[in-house]
Amino acid sequence: RSLSIIGCPFSGGQGRRGVDTGPNSLIDAGLISQLQELSWDVSFEGHQQFEDINSILESGEDKDIGTMKNPRSVSEVNKRVSEVVGKHAKEGRLPLTLGGDHSLALGTVTGSLSAHPNAALIWIDAHADINTPDTTPSGNLHGCPVSFLLGLKGTDVEPFSSWVPKKPVLKADSLVYIGLRDIDSGERKILKENGIKCFSMHEVDRYGIGKVVELALDHVNGGSSRERPIHLSFDVDALDPSVAPSTGTPVRGGLTFREGHYICEALYETGSLVAMDLMEVNPTLMADHAKQTIAIGCSLIRSALGETLL
Ligand code: ARG
Ligand code: MN
Ligand code: MN
Ligand code: MN
Repeated sequence: RSLSIIGCPFSGGQGRRGVDTGPNSLIDAGLISQLQELSWDVSFEGHQQFEDINSILESGEDKDIGTMKNPRSVSEVNKRVSEVVGKHAKEGRLPLTLGGDHSLALGTVTGSLSAHPNAALIWIDAHADINTPDTTPSGNLHGCPVSFLLGLKGTDVEPFSSWVPKKPVLKADSLVYIGLRDIDSGERKILKENGIKCFSMHEVDRYGIGKVVELALDHVNGGSSRERPIHLSFDVDALDPSVAPSTGTPVRGGLTFREGHYICEALYETGSLVAMDLMEVNPTLMADHAKQTIAIGCSLIRSALGETLL
């Protein structure tokens, strides 16, 4: 079994600098050897080179388009990410993408679905990230990647339309959320209209995490089979801020340490995980707790890739 680490030092999908140092912090914490110890053949060819894009970002030349902030940078980064993730996935390696902000999931999911067209997406997050350019209250594109993946109304816009597939990457019934607790009003409407399966923190409290993951897997598999390929996109802010404080948009009332790890362990047990993202670790925020947040990023990844308690 082999995997490719794709480090994505990019922060342009939101306004707080420092999330671009997330990938390097996870590598520095020893992620590669930790995964080798789980008997993975790990390839890591250095982080993605986004210097050219990041300098446009910093120059202030990437002017808003409508509501969208940094649209050219976000689009170009995601185009590249979709190509590299797609390439590794087609070679039969599991792409493990380290963010960076969550706008990058437009690229990761587009890439992994190009290799595994039948894959389902499990999105672990405090937020739904399903605003469209018409509904976004912030203009931050890390709040929008899912709407582009589903091809929702309002997402067929430049510069994204020059490369995002015309046929939607994902169908609404191929997506499940766990951990939601901060949804914008436009997002609530989209989730309802498209019948998207959501397990908010309310459902986690009601059923317990074990049942929630089971129901989530039943939903995407259409029953008790566990064969459908899964792309796991994990935003570290799904965890409670007391557990993972170093992130840009913390929301209280989140997953516990064990609930977060349980999700990863249970997805590993399916044997069907084909790609994973670990996003939104920002070591420059709550810097006294950065080590804790980075360590949890590494341990969530290990749990999804085969680390067991016994
Ligand atoms: N819903 C808010 C917005 O669209 C916050 C999104 C936070 N997203 C994230 N990936 N942390 O601006
Ligand atoms: Mn989030
Ligand atoms: Mn909010
Ligand atoms: Mn997110």
